[in-house]
Amino acid sequence: MIESHIIGTGSYLPEKILTNNDLASMVDTNDEWIVSRTGIKQRHIAGENELNADMAYQAAQKAIESAHIQAQDISMIIVATTTPDYTFPSVAACVQAKLGAKCPAFDMQAVCSGFVYAMSTAHQFIQSGSMKHILVIGSEKMSSILDWKDRRTCILFGDGAGAVVLGAKPNIDASVSNTPHRGILSSYLMAQGQHKDILYADGGVASTQSAGVIHMNGQEVFKHAVTKMSAAINQALKKAGLTKDAIDWLVPHQANQRIIDSLGKKMKLESDRVISCVANHANTSAASIPLALDYAAQSSQFKEGDLLCFVAIGGGLTWGACLLRW
Ligand code: UT7
Repeated sequence: MIESHIIGTGSYLPEKILTNNDLASMVDTNDEWIVSRTGIKQRHIAGENELNADMAYQAAQKAIESAHIQAQDISMIIVATTTPDYTFPSVAACVQAKLGAKCPAFDMQAVCSGFVYAMSTAHQFIQSGSMKHILVIGSEKMSSILDWKDRRTCILFGDGAGAVVLGAKPNIDASVSNTPHRGILSSYLMAQGQHKDILYADGGVASTQSAGVIHMNGQEVFKHAVTKMSAAINQALKKAGLTKDAIDWLVPHQANQRIIDSLGKKMKLESDRVISCVANHANTSAASIPLALDYAAQSSQFKEGDLLCFVAIGGGLTWGACLLRW
């Protein structure tokens, strides 16, 4: 039995900050409305010439450094993203070249659930024994697919990147139990394409030959969010043979503070056990969980043996949860 441990984390937020007041000079909105409905105070916006791969690379470098390994030690790179710089090559291939790593690299597209999908995928490769260090990145330049005249969506999103290095470690008690004791314990992934019209970007390579902009029925997404994310957590707990009182830290997708609070309540977790930094960087889609994770890890909030739960929902609809013992 081989376990997948997070051995390094890193993140990157672009220098430029767009506050709610800045947005109020662009569309008919105000700081009070945005804060009360979403908890968001500001978002970071990539520079004009700053690519998704540049942000992903910055976060990756920090994760590699904190894992105390070299880029040459990476056996695979997975980038969860919805906003790639090019139709191809993938962001992952661009990051691989920048790092000088020698390994397979590919992108994973599950919108805001991308990081949970990517972690679960990386875990399979590690458990199979074929990979030792997998760099999992969530990186998004959401500002490039926003309609800056649509106040219902442009206030919600931001740019940034977060990364982890998942490392393989043998489970020394494998003879006693065939399940991991630390690292990733279980995950649950799901999608329902029939809800694709409540959150989508109206462009694409084969349809309009342009990236398009985000359209969202916010109230419908909100309705699905808490129910589906809590159900996913329960499924992941069931797979790991645990109950919700075992969770020490919830690291949820950072989309809306109201959703985060409702989910925490449903999981019966005190608010100081629920990681939130949505106020600082808004919804960064696939980057939001690794950004929150790095923020909490940097402030040494997690202790060895703590049970972390990552959970997300996004366009597709896609959703999922992943349990990890720190
Ligand atoms: O990764 C998943 C991504 N998506 C989400 O997580 C989004 C989930 N949904 C939400 O977070 C919320 O539905 C929103 C924050 C998007 C909207 O909050 P809401 O409480 O559902 O507001 P609403 O859509 O019901 O709109 C209420 C009012 C409307 O005005 P009327 O029709 O009542 O006169 C909107 O036109 O607020 C208006 N409004 C705004 N007012 C000021 C909508 N956007 C804004 C705005 N500033 N930015």
